[in-house]
Amino acid sequence: MNENHARVCSSPEWAAYIQGEILPSLTDQADLGDDMLEIGPGPGAATEWLRHRVKRLTVLEVDDEAAGKLADRYAGGNVEVAVGSGAKLGYPDGSFDSVGCFTMLHHVPTVALQNKILAEAFRVLRPGGMLIGSDSLASNDLRHFHSGDTYNPIEPAPVLGRLQTLGFDKITVMVDGILKFVARKPTGPGACGAEPVPEPGAEAAA
Ligand SMILES: C[S@@+](CC[C@H](N)C(=O)[O-])C[C@H]1O[C@@H](n2cnc3c(N)ncnc32)[C@H](O)[C@@H]1O
Repeated sequence: MNENHARVCSSPEWAAYIQGEILPSLTDQADLGDDMLEIGPGPGAATEWLRHRVKRLTVLEVDDEAAGKLADRYAGGNVEVAVGSGAKLGYPDGSFDSVGCFTMLHHVPTVALQNKILAEAFRVLRPGGMLIGSDSLASNDLRHFHSGDTYNPIEPAPVLGRLQTLGFDKITVMVDGILKFVARKPTGPGACGAEPVPEPGAEAAA
């Protein structure tokens, strides 16, 4: 993350926004259950809210330093902090009742890698488990904000198809200043996931 993120994502204003507006509107539509995985917690604005709503919260952060700060803050509590990428989760199939990813997919450099993260989320959810997520919408301001940083915003319209292709059902995609989505891993027959959707042009390049 660049300095803009370090400043904004750890600010009380950002925490108030994500905790007051984003997360309640997602959890209104999704039962988080007891065991939740959050991918890409950063400074922990969502973590702080979520940890009061589940029995056990695992957070997986690719940045060592950010993960270390969270591990110090939550030592001895119900938050387990791990370092790694959401694209390769070291948890068995069906480990979690819910998975969340907030404001992080646009930091993932390719659509294929974003799909890999969503496919891994699907794999580690138990049947009937819920995915909740949010992300910033593309804009010139957002592009400038990401100067020197990865900037790969999600197009909202294909999100439904991307999640459906990965195997999710009961999918809701909302565009309300930002992108929000909720999806369920199906129960019963047909509950297996599909292969990640290839990035456009990937076949030609191969
Ligand atoms: C903009 S911050 C968002 C932090 C927090 N989720 C929030 O909404 O306040 C994005 C975070 O995602 C992390 N991240 C990016 N790619 C990741 C990946 N593949 N796996 C896990 N974390 C990742 C970054 O290191 C960063 O901490």
